[in-house]
Amino acid sequence: MSDKKFTPVKLALEKDKRYAWCTCGHSETNVFCDGSHKQHEKAGSLVFQVDEDKDARICTCKLTSNPPYCDGSHK
Ligand code: FES
Repeated sequence: MSDKKFTPVKLALEKDKRYAWCTCGHSETNVFCDGSHKQHEKAGSLVFQVDEDKDARICTCKLTSNPPYCDGSHK
């Protein structure tokens, strides 16, 4: 990781929609997988769904203990 300051991204997640959270930090969006991990020989994405529509704070620092959600570890 660089010295860039990471903060969570607040998103409105939709019930039953499949999301692929970037675990490697190389995605152009940083939040969702764009396949960049293949070029860097890193692990793939974490696919997840939610049971109801909800707002969530999604981790961008990759240090969270509760992926894909921010747990404050970026501070
Ligand atoms: S952005 Fe908050 S724990 Fe990663």
